Order: sequence, then C-alpha cells, then structure tokens
Amino acid sequence: MSIILAIESSCDDTSVAICNDGKITANVVANQLVHQNYGGVIPELASRVHQQNIVPAIVKALADAKVNKNELNAVAFTQGPGLLGSLLVGVSFAKSFALGLNLPLIAVNHMQAHILAHFIDEPKPVFPFFCLTVSGGHTQIVLVKNYFDMEVVGETLDDAAGEAFDKTAKILNLPYPGGPLIDKYAQLGNPLRFNFVEPKIPELNFSFSGFKTAILYFIRDNVKINPNFIDENLNDICASVQHCIVRILSNKIKLAAVKYNINQIAIAGGVSANSGLRNTLQEEAKINNWQVFIPKFEYCTDNAAMVAMAAHFKFLDNDFVNQDVMPMARMPIV
Ligand code: KG4
Ligand code: ZN
Repeated sequence: MSIILAIESSCDDTSVAICNDGKITANVVANQLVHQNYGGVIPELASRVHQQNIVPAIVKALADAKVNKNELNAVAFTQGPGLLGSLLVGVSFAKSFALGLNLPLIAVNHMQAHILAHFIDEPKPVFPFFCLTVSGGHTQIVLVKNYFDMEVVGETLDDAAGEAFDKTAKILNLPYPGGPLIDKYAQLGNPLRFNFVEPKIPELNFSFSGFKTAILYFIRDNVKINPNFIDENLNDICASVQHCIVRILSNKIKLAAVKYNINQIAIAGGVSANSGLRNTLQEEAKINNWQVFIPKFEYCTDNAAMVAMAAHFKFLDNDFVNQDVMPMARMPIV
C-alpha cells in the first residue's frame, strides 16, 4: 500500500495530486491567469504565483483525497524539464515537506509523466506502444518499451506543435495560450479553405518554424489587401491552420507505425487536448487498424495526477532520490 503526494510546477500551473495505491484520489490544478496579459508565460511571475498557490493546493489535495499528511508514504515532484524558477518552487517544497515528515522523495520527468498518464484510467496501453507527445515545448514520437524505458524515434528540429498553435494565435491577435482558442474557432470553420504546405522533413522528425513564417506572411499579405481579413475569416483560418498541423502530426505517426509495426498509438501533452487531433487519430485508427489511447482532457494539459502515477511506479521500484536533488530545466526523456 502506498499513498503518494505529487507536485507539478514545471510551467504556469501549480498542481498537487494524491495517488492511493495506483488510484488518483485528488488532482488540484491552480491555473495562473496573470500571463494572459503578456501573451506568454513570464517565468519570474510564474515562480511567484507558484509560491502563493502551492500551500493552498497541498491543503486542498489532502482534503479532496481525505488523507492526513501523516498517512503519506512518499512525496513526489517534477524535476524537469521546465522553467527553472517554477521547478524550484515545487522541488524545494517537496524536499522540505518530505524532510519534515521523514518521507522518501521521488523525482519525476515531466515528459515521462505525460506518457504515464495513460496508466491512470482504463483502457491502458500494452508495451511496446507509440506515444506522440505534443506540448508547448515538445513534439516527439516516443517508443515506450516499459514505464521508464523510452526511446525518442522522431522529434521536432525547431518549434513544438504547441508553439505553432500559440504563435499562430499571436499573429491572429488572440490571447495566450492560443491553442485552445484556435481549436474552438476551428470547429466553426472550413479546414480546406486555405491551403498551407506541409514541410518535407526526413524520417520521423518534424519542423514547425517554416510553417509559422508561412502563416505570418499569409496574414500580412491578406491584411494589406483587406484590413478586416482576420476578423472576417477567423474560423476558416483557424480551421485551416489546425488541419495542417494535425496532418503533419498524423502523417508522421502513420509512418512510424508502419516502420516499427506497432499499432497501439497514444497521445500526450497539452496539444493532445486538440479536438482535430483527437478526431483524426480516431479516424486513422479505423483505417489502419490501430488502437488509439487519448487521455481525458484534465490529464492532457499539465497536472500532478500524471506525476503521481509515474511516482507510483517509481515507488514500486524503490526509486528514490536524496535531499541534494536539483531541478533540471532540460531533462531528456531517456
Ligand atoms: O503540456 P502543456 O500543458 O504544457 C507544456 O508542458 O508545454 O502544453 C501546453 C500547450 C500550449 O502550447 C497550448 O496552446 C497547447 O498545449 N494546447 C492546445 C490545446 N490545449 C492546449 N493546443 C491545441 N488545441 C488545444 N485544445
Ligand atoms: Zn506538459
């Protein structure tokens, strides 16, 4: 039996979860709205708001799970990758909390946690499977051989898919984070109205920087002709952009599935909340005879439940860290 408290603070969400013997019994997420005023996450502000949010989030998670802190068996935290100042808040709190309660500490890789979110609910994938991890900082095709045995077989050479969504939103004067808004408007638009060319990138890698520039020029040229171009065509622009990003992602995962002869495909990370990606993968699953794993919305974007789940498997392996552990802004998945 194990009751683990897990803290996630890698970016701009402060989250605390409890995992009771492999079952998530609390998952508190405190979003930071302050960044909306700036068009992106301001690292300094994120750290400060984590400091304000972390204790209330801990108290609420313990209350939601109906657990007393003295009943905990371990404290887990996101070690990286992420914003260093944000990570420091979670890591320092976890260390002090564990020290005060004389509990073992578990360090979790944020990207591994996104993938292991698939083990929270049924149906669970069976090893080996592919996971397309698509977030604000990552776009990778990961061959998942075991809980902590993962191999990156393809990744972005420049921007992440989430950045492609967020930067397009910025060009369209939409607030941060733009991904969910593009998704919302895309559902009302025609995805075939504007055609954006898919970049030709070898093997299983991706590139989104040229795509972003193409959108920038496309909007600039059209606004020159018609100053109301964005307002008059917002739904169709969002639908067409989303259609192209989703096509880039799904074509590469199709290639990977054939190359490795793997038919279990999972998606993880913030962009896996995208309705276009979710629908396209469901359709591709029927055509290609895949089993597709799509997390619940609350486990797509950053959350501590996924960290708690990863920590559960580390607890079973007796994989603990010492008090001298440090956060890592860059932390490879393998
Ligand atoms: O995993 P995540 O919450 O944070 C990181 O670890 O980066 O991912 C955040 C990214 C942002 O770029 C956000 O715009 C994108 O996920 N995102 C979406 C959607 N929801 C979140 N992108 C497209 N469609 C969505 N529905
Ligand atoms: Zn994330």
